[in-house]
Order: sequence, then structure tokens, then C-alpha cells
Amino acid sequence: MTTQGPETVSPISQWYDMMTRMFPDKRLTFLNYGYLAKDSSFDWISDEDLEQKCSANLIRTLLGDTDLRGKKILEIGSGRGGNCSYLARYTGAASVTGLDFCPAHIELCNRVHRIEGLTFVDGDAMALPFADNEFDVVVNIESSHCYPDLNRFGEEVQRVLKKDGRFFYADTMKGNNTSALSEPDSIGVDFFTNVLEQHQAMIRHAGFKVEEHADISEGVIRAFESEQGHLKHLLKSLVEEKKQESDSLPPEVWHAFDTMFHFFDDSGIKAYKNGHLVYKFWRLKQAA
Ligand SMILES: C[S@@+](CC[C@H](N)C(=O)[O-])C[C@H]1O[C@@H](n2cnc3c(N)ncnc32)[C@H](O)[C@@H]1O
Repeated sequence: MTTQGPETVSPISQWYDMMTRMFPDKRLTFLNYGYLAKDSSFDWISDEDLEQKCSANLIRTLLGDTDLRGKKILEIGSGRGGNCSYLARYTGAASVTGLDFCPAHIELCNRVHRIEGLTFVDGDAMALPFADNEFDVVVNIESSHCYPDLNRFGEEVQRVLKKDGRFFYADTMKGNNTSALSEPDSIGVDFFTNVLEQHQAMIRHAGFKVEEHADISEGVIRAFESEQGHLKHLLKSLVEEKKQESDSLPPEVWHAFDTMFHFFDDSGIKAYKNGHLVYKFWRLKQAA
């Protein structure tokens, strides 16, 4: 069931909905930029996850050596379910719930990820449809940049987390370099409006204790530039196939994909390198 009437559906949800209905391919289960350290090894990964190994490596890096066995986990902004599937298959969690406000994502996840203990729920990150103190762990990856009210989101995470619960959180935000960008270099970069102080204010506002905080931009850029295991290669081939079979889509749809690929190949890489954007993660703890 969707909680939004057609007149209130956010443009972000509409974009994801269109993209996911266009590309129902079950090989594309992550929608994040991925992470690749200089010394990343993939001896832990199963063959079925190799194609998206940088994305699986991002959640693995975010979680560190946290023991999640027996835990009740919620991912907010679960997209096409890659992180939830990772959590259900690799961590020994008791249950994993993915929440997203894009109906096509929930439909795709229910079709593609049939794993015991894993469920997907339609809902908004700023009005979570869960009781207080319901989860041991909350995960949020590359979704918070879409939220109009970060503090409201933080309050909701705080509410649904148990005492001593853990909150793992990663996203892109504006960096310290605020110099003007040329038009091509600003493509896709201007989409990110939140600054670091807003994330820090949310963390203080909700009363989370910071256990670990890191800038992982370098590893995200390495994943962008790597020839293997990155979302962009899969997406590019899917878009190319679609172009061959149909030119009936409105030009603005192709333009939106061109913009995304320009960001992946050029403006995004430059922006992380020159400090216009920064990719951060936090490991947080619910206050006692
Ligand atoms: C870039 S994708 C990341 C998906 C997933 N976390 C991953 O790492 O593959 C961002 C997701 O956040 C979801 N999202 C954005 N705003 C949301 C909101 N207010 N409530 C719930 N989901 C939201 C989008 O629908 C999309 O699935």
C-alpha cells in the first residue's frame, strides 16, 4: 500500500519509480556509488555478488566489525534491496526490514529478494511506520540527501531504535570548497544541497553518540573509476540496450541519464577530488 496520494508524490520517488519500471533487471540491486579501498580484498564475497562488489563493499565497510548476529535491522531508503539482501545473507541478523517511499522499489524487492526474515515496507523516512524501540540497528546509505527535513529523520531513527541501538549512516554532502563551478562541472553536483553542519546538527538534535566518523570520498572515487563492480557500468549497458530497442521515450528521460553518466564519469569525480562534494560515514549509538 502506498501512503501518498498522486498529488503529493515527490519528484525523487517518481524518478526512481520510472527508472525501476524501465529496468526491472534483477542484477541491479544496489543504487549506491560503492567503495573500493587501495587494499580492498573480496575473498569474503560470493560469486553472485561479484558484479556489484563495490556496492556490497560499501555496506561492509560502513558496518566494520560490528556483530549483527540475532539483531533486528531496519534499512531506511532501501532502494532495490541490495543492502538488505547483504544484511540478510552475510550477517546472521534475526530479521531485516527495508523501507522505501518508491512503490516500484518495494514491488521489485518483493519479487527479487525472497529470503527468510527479510521484508520490505512502503514508507517515508520522516514518518516511519514502526513502533518505538523496535530495532537494534538502523542503516541508511545514500538516501538522506533526498530528505527535506534531516532533523525529523533523526528524530524518527532515534524513536524506533532500542536503547543502546546502533545507527550506521553514509551519504554525499557539500564539501568545504564553495568556489563557483563551470556549467559542465556543476552537472549533478548541484543536486546535493545538504552541508556537513546539517548532518552534525541532526546527530546532536537526536542525541546520538558518535562512535566513528570518517571521510571515505577517496574510496568512493576509486569505485567510480574502477572498471569492475560499479553501478555505472551496469546502468550504462541497460540504458544502451533500452535506447536500441526504443526511441519512444521523451528526450528529457535520455537527458536525465546523460546527466547522471556525466556526473559518474566527470563532474562527480572532479567534485569529490576538489572538495565541492564529500562522502562521509558515521557509526552512531543511541544514547542510554
Ligand atoms: C540512491 S538510492 C540508495 C538505495 C540503497 N540505500 C542503496 O544503497 O542501494 C536512494 C533511495 O532512497 C529512497 N528515498 C529517498 N527519499 C526517501 C524518503 N523520504 N523516504 C523513503 N525513501 C526515500 C529512494 O526511493 C531510493 O530508493
